[in-house]
Amino acid sequence: MKILVTGGAGFIGTNFIRMILLNHPEHEIINLDKLTYAGNAENLLDLSDNPNYRFYVGDICQPDHVEPAIVGVDAVVHFAAESHVDRSIQDAAPFVVTNIFGTQLLLDFAREAKVSRFIYISSDQVGGSLLPGIYLRENSPVSPNNPYAASKAAAEHLVFVSYNIHQFPATIARLSSCYGPYQFPEKLIPLVIANTLEFKPLPVYGDGLHIRDWVYVEDACRAIYQILLKGKPGQIYNVGAHSEKTNLEIIKRILKLLDRPEKLITFISDRLGHDRRYGVDSGKIERELAWRSQIDFEEGLRRTIDWYLRNIEWLADTRSSSYREYYDSVYSSRFTVEPTKPEF
Ligand code: NAD
Ligand code: TYD
Repeated sequence: MKILVTGGAGFIGTNFIRMILLNHPEHEIINLDKLTYAGNAENLLDLSDNPNYRFYVGDICQPDHVEPAIVGVDAVVHFAAESHVDRSIQDAAPFVVTNIFGTQLLLDFAREAKVSRFIYISSDQVGGSLLPGIYLRENSPVSPNNPYAASKAAAEHLVFVSYNIHQFPATIARLSSCYGPYQFPEKLIPLVIANTLEFKPLPVYGDGLHIRDWVYVEDACRAIYQILLKGKPGQIYNVGAHSEKTNLEIIKRILKLLDRPEKLITFISDRLGHDRRYGVDSGKIERELAWRSQIDFEEGLRRTIDWYLRNIEWLADTRSSSYREYYDSVYSSRFTVEPTKPEF
């Protein structure tokens, strides 16, 4: 298959492309990525000579960038997005543009190019906050609570409309929280690893008891691949790992694995509209596509930490001056108590 991957220089897209190029040489990949702050061309530099790989720097919102990239492709796997909730609360507009308008434009071009598979990568955040014991199913109502989640939900609707009106063969992979190598350190796990390594305070929003279902990125990429091969058009497949954790549990495990003191934990004011719990029911993909997560949280976290320790320069490069500006804008006014200082 010739596969157009959008957003392939970001966290999950990078892992997906690496998996395909290294394990499935029968496929060709075209990566279309705008290289926003979250995209890093270096992630795939070692594969740039692979004859099955081509990289276009381009914006999914620009017809003249999408058109040449989509010619002759069999399938689209659409990851490209603005992906960070805190940024969406600061400024929702880029989320509406890329995640909604960009997805519609891509759907239009893909339909015109007669691609036979289109996988939209969505998020469990579309379902909003769930009470304990309640799981988001593929047919549950959506109820997003932040601009990022709302933009992902809007795009889901557009994908369905395209299927319903035009019988366009689109399928939705709805992922729970992913973690692993190459994740930008604005997200909880890499941010905590990076700060821990530098003995910096670890900012915990609210009481730290918010829950997500954490899936290791390699498992998520295997699920996306199964959906690409065998998923039915017009369907959603939830992808979770039966691995619900509170943020505090995660932070404490990272501290333990890196042998650092818990006094780095610093409670700060809560995120606006902070969803208490996400949890997906992954029964459908397990039953219908025989996918199940294979890497448990302990093992996944160990692998993740190990990757960041082996890629300290990657981490340093991502934490550039614009990252510091972003970090100050989100965190500086929220540290209500003196940050704890380590005794070393
Ligand atoms: P990311 O922020 O790490 O990467 C996004 C990539 O998209 C970057 O390389 C960026 O340069 C690119 N991009 C942004 N705007 C673009 C545009 N207009 N045109 C072309 N490229 C553009 O995101 P991620 O964590 O890898 O997430 C990938 C997808 O998976 C997103 O759609 C996200 O909503 C979804 N998702 C992520 C998670 C998670 O836990 N990370 C969970 C569920 C769903
Ligand atoms: P995040 O990694 O931003 O992903 P999402 O909002 O998509 O779930 O956040 C994961 C959880 O961690 C979420 O409950 C917010 C919380 N969090 C913190 O407590 N401190 C932080 O510095 C960050 C980035 C997140």
